[in-house]
Amino acid sequence: MSNKLAYLGGPKVRSKPFAPWPPFDAGEERQLIKALRSRNWGGYPSPNKLASSFARKFAAAHNAKYGVCAANGSVTLELALKAAGIKAGDEVITTPYTWVATAAAPVMVNAVPVFADIDPDTYCIDPLKVEQAISSRTRAIICVHLGSTISDLSSLKKISRKHGLILVEDCAHAHGAKWMNRGVGSHGDFGSFSFQSSKLMTSGEGGIVITNKKDYEMRLQSLVNCGRKDPGYDRFRGEIFGYNYRITELQAAVLLAQLSKLNGFTKKREKNALYLTGELSKIDGITPLKRDKRITRSAHYQYVFKYDPRGFKGLHRDDFIAAMAAEGIELDGDFYEPVFKSPLFNVTADEWPMIRERYGEAIKNSPALPECPVSNKAAYHEACWLHYPALMGTRKDLDDVVAAIVKIQDNIDDILPRKRDGKPHLRKSGGLRAGLSKRR
Ligand SMILES: Cc1ncc(COP(=O)(O)O)c(C=O)c1O
Repeated sequence: MSNKLAYLGGPKVRSKPFAPWPPFDAGEERQLIKALRSRNWGGYPSPNKLASSFARKFAAAHNAKYGVCAANGSVTLELALKAAGIKAGDEVITTPYTWVATAAAPVMVNAVPVFADIDPDTYCIDPLKVEQAISSRTRAIICVHLGSTISDLSSLKKISRKHGLILVEDCAHAHGAKWMNRGVGSHGDFGSFSFQSSKLMTSGEGGIVITNKKDYEMRLQSLVNCGRKDPGYDRFRGEIFGYNYRITELQAAVLLAQLSKLNGFTKKREKNALYLTGELSKIDGITPLKRDKRITRSAHYQYVFKYDPRGFKGLHRDDFIAAMAAEGIELDGDFYEPVFKSPLFNVTADEWPMIRERYGEAIKNSPALPECPVSNKAAYHEACWLHYPALMGTRKDLDDVVAAIVKIQDNIDDILPRKRDGKPHLRKSGGLRAGLSKRR
């Protein structure tokens, strides 16, 4: 077969899509039909039967005592902060390299997000930067277990204990992952998970907060159920101001089926990821994110690796990604940009006055924002994200990923003159971005 790059009109390395997602089988169908026929579809009385059963099992699978389901993995973060008693003006330290919801949660409870840059080896929040960001107003830390890695929970727990801070783990990418043999989400005070379409477990939309403290659980139950006092309580006598964030029984039915397969899928993805890491590590200019020895089970929402243009005669990451897409392998480069640069993070003081003292009239472009060079480099130059379906198939799927990279590297001299000729950026608009919107 010709080795001409697909970008330049040659044959693609791969023309088949990876495994279809989200995966489902007769298990989801059975549960869903049972729930449908029960005519008990909603979230009320809360927690309803399937939601309650799912929450208990999901929490136990992550070594936590309690779980409270909610509408999505954005409100679960907000609920965790509310249940912890985070108040207006409190500061919450978080990572800039994440989806908008992580940093929006403090804003939504009238608190102030403060950013601490990420560790270059793992792309998760750097505990040293967290310590530097602590002030007399700091009340909580939200870490994110990103893509396929886990934040340094041991250090973050130590820091939160030392300074009396609440630790919230954003586990939207990490269903089934374990740090030192214990499920993610059960190390901090709260673990927040998303069941949005692209995630490792999904009911289309949905989320859960897990915790080990009974009084947090009671507050969470109340908060998701319009402030009602007790779970299942059918009177309007609440004690706290809540809202309807309940999950439906139809969602819980699907999630029960998904949970029964989580362990098997996680092991499969982990095995495939380890193989891919071995192969990618042999390629000059490609460095998989570091796997900390304390990770005893890794979940792979995305397989993330670092791209170094020096291995590709200076070709920019985005051009590399365009050439990969042409070969039939879709990667995302700008999957995330530093949250405070995102057009979606439009947080202004006229709407959220608590941010004014620190940031002025808006968080975006505020001189009070830290530099965050590691997040910038990851976002705009270095990170390459591969969605989990690539890890759900055969060894051939993984070999295709490797083969496409090697092909580009071997033929780099064919791409570079086009760049020097002043041809536009290789990246085609539309395709990849359309993929992105599908994923979040
Ligand atoms: C890291 C992270 N946190 C929170 C969320 C929010 O979850 P949801 O989409 O269910 O609201 C997401 C979803 O993309 C995410 O990736």
